Amino acid sequence: MSYKASKDRYENMPYNRCGNSGLMLPAISLGLWHNFGDVDDFENCRKMVHRAFDLGITHFDLANNYGPSAGSAESNFGKILKKDLASHRDELIISTKAGYMMWDGPYGDWGSRKYLLASLDQSLKRLGVDYVDIFYSHRPDPQTPIEETMRALGSAVRQGKALYVGLSNYTAEQTVDAIAVLKQFGIPCLIHQPSYSMLNRWVEDGLLDVVEEEGIGCIAFSPLAQGKLTDKYLNGIPEDSRAAKAHGFLQKNDITDKLLKTVGSLNKIAADRGQSLAQMALAWVLKDDRITSAIVGASKVEQIEQNIAALENNVFSSDEIFAIEKILVPLQ
Ligand SMILES: NC(=O)c1ccc[n+]([C@@H]2O[C@H](COP(=O)([O-])OP(=O)(O)OC[C@H]3O[C@@H](n4cnc5c(N)ncnc54)[C@H](OP(=O)(O)O)[C@@H]3O)[C@@H](O)[C@H]2O)c1
Repeated sequence: MSYKASKDRYENMPYNRCGNSGLMLPAISLGLWHNFGDVDDFENCRKMVHRAFDLGITHFDLANNYGPSAGSAESNFGKILKKDLASHRDELIISTKAGYMMWDGPYGDWGSRKYLLASLDQSLKRLGVDYVDIFYSHRPDPQTPIEETMRALGSAVRQGKALYVGLSNYTAEQTVDAIAVLKQFGIPCLIHQPSYSMLNRWVEDGLLDVVEEEGIGCIAFSPLAQGKLTDKYLNGIPEDSRAAKAHGFLQKNDITDKLLKTVGSLNKIAADRGQSLAQMALAWVLKDDRITSAIVGASKVEQIEQNIAALENNVFSSDEIFAIEKILVPLQ
């Protein structure tokens, strides 16, 4: 299979400014946490990346440990980049992260300078690139001084190995501190990457105010709650779903009766809007102007197509918002 990018790939996707920076991100980005590892079908990975790019997705989100095996999502994306997208490198925003367990011993986890910079070098090799566009501290490290972790991010930029830096999974308070330290080093923070969905609304309690006040972007991960905010589990757990897979983070026992009741009610509102539940869940996350982009995961090309079509109907009436809140309130 040879790949030629679609000529009309920039015609429909909206690109949102990332905080006060010069960078624009697509409203929907693709994440390679699951389904892009060496346990997965490489040709399917390739097809998903092609289709995403053809539909205007310019941003691909990775981390050192995505797979399984850890590192294999970066290697697979690197192969696809080399084979098919090399001539489009300047059209792509590739992000990676370090912060979770990656290799044995005291230097392969958390937030030390030793770990972050060694991990970034490994990521660049696997991806086959000279630099990534965004390098994240994947999580705050309570044992390492914030100055050390932020200085390591700053070094990545100064060494030309990352164009921008970001924070992921930092609380509102930790974000304020980290941004202040980065500023001291003359390095702007581009973006925060928190979890956010109709089923997980912690960012509404302070973090979204911080990103707005600080003028940084916010890219929501797991906007479909790993697939729970779709219609896929309404009639049982499909064999090829994340909840059924042994290596997935979603477990069969996460699909509870209480969840299915909530999802069933949301599904009815989505149907009244003429959307799938996945589409409504994405539109719901993106309705807040402070959200620059939503990073979706996918196991099939059709999911990417369906998810991008969410952008065709992303306005909610006050009645719809009220009805959705009523369903979500018992979960808060
Ligand atoms: N910074 C962090 O700590 C962190 C943590 C987690 C994720 N992330 C990032 O966020 C990305 C997205 O996370 P996620 O994969 O959990 O996101 P998600 O979009 O909430 O869930 C993706 C899963 O939902 C299902 N799905 C997607 N579209 C669907 C559709 N239209 N209809 C039915 N099912 C659909 C698929 O499940 P099946 O596989 O069952 O088909 C897919 O694998 C990751 O790849 C990663 O880049 C970051």
